Amino acid sequence: MTYRSMIKFFVPLAVVVAMSFVSACKKKTEDVITIGEYGSMTGTEATFGISTHRGIEMAIEAVNAAGGVKGKKLKLISYDNQGKAEESVTAVTKLITKDNVDVIIGEVASSRSKAAAPVAQRYQVPMISPSSTNPEVTAIGDYIFRVCFIDPFQGSVLAVFATENLKAKTAALLIDKKSDYSVGLADFFTKKFTALGGKIIVEQNYVGGDIDFKAQLTAIKAKNPDVIMVPGYYTEVGLMMKQAKDLGLKAVFIGGDGWDSPKLAEIAGPALNGNYMSNHYTTDDKDPRVQEFIKKYQAKFNEVPDGLAALGYDAALVLVDALNRAPDFSKKSIRDALAQTKSFAGVTGVITMDHNRNASKPAVVVQAQDLVFRFVRKIEP
Ligand code: PHE
Repeated sequence: MTYRSMIKFFVPLAVVVAMSFVSACKKKTEDVITIGEYGSMTGTEATFGISTHRGIEMAIEAVNAAGGVKGKKLKLISYDNQGKAEESVTAVTKLITKDNVDVIIGEVASSRSKAAAPVAQRYQVPMISPSSTNPEVTAIGDYIFRVCFIDPFQGSVLAVFATENLKAKTAALLIDKKSDYSVGLADFFTKKFTALGGKIIVEQNYVGGDIDFKAQLTAIKAKNPDVIMVPGYYTEVGLMMKQAKDLGLKAVFIGGDGWDSPKLAEIAGPALNGNYMSNHYTTDDKDPRVQEFIKKYQAKFNEVPDGLAALGYDAALVLVDALNRAPDFSKKSIRDALAQTKSFAGVTGVITMDHNRNASKPAVVVQAQDLVFRFVRKIEP
């Protein structure tokens, strides 16, 4: 064979092979609805990503086992962002431009959702955050949704609880200055707490990844506040509680959903006991929908589901509800159907999307007793 005849023979062949490959791929993607997920599967917030993934996985498996959505199976593609904002941008870009996903679920942490949401918005791919509570997340655009409450509410829940239940008059703040969640929640707490007559008497800062908080805790101890409000994530919060106990600090810690992790009790040890957090759900809830979820999750993963698992599960099922109502599976139709989500009965409460694409739901306050968080009070929006 001459070089020319080789080209004549192989090039068209290669084109035919490539074309049939493309159409096979296309056909395959047409039979499924592809959901992209990005989250912290590793790093200091690893349980956030892992629990969320498990919740999503459980929901998708159940839907697929029952035949999928209008005959189409759901396919999940997940990326680990190692708990980093830059990696979140990379992951969402890849999900959209390489994997051609129809919709995205993520992230947990508000700073990471805020970093990646502009990409989803720019490409007009609907994104649902299961658990980012900072108000700015969904404000990024009309393709960005969440199935959880937001921090103006969560901050006020903690302030009301501190004032009414704990009779706190003074509070210390310990804020992660690099976290949108931490800064925002501290701010919303302060507004309500001071409006109720309370006083912030000391404020200290840290950055996620820090491991030694003795200087901040010593400064707080000197002021003797009634409560120490820490709107942080579990790894740092666990270390703080432990170090506070070592320093002989007696004040009770209060904080938000960011504490939620099976690792918190491991890190803090008995120093956890007595402290309070607000959260999206409690395993003490006797609602059969909640108990059924806990039972199935435990059977599958041999672990009690945390709030992230419940929110991941709800995010996936809110999406399925929207897909069932959508006239077709274009991204615009999925977006419109998500926006019309109404009275969806989730594990974490009844979910209705408001005009800012946020869910308005009650919060619970739970207290650590013998290393397990127990229900104390439910606060309605
Ligand atoms: N609400 C937190 C944030 O916005 C994330 C979080 C939700 C963490 C629920 C734990 C449990 O950053």
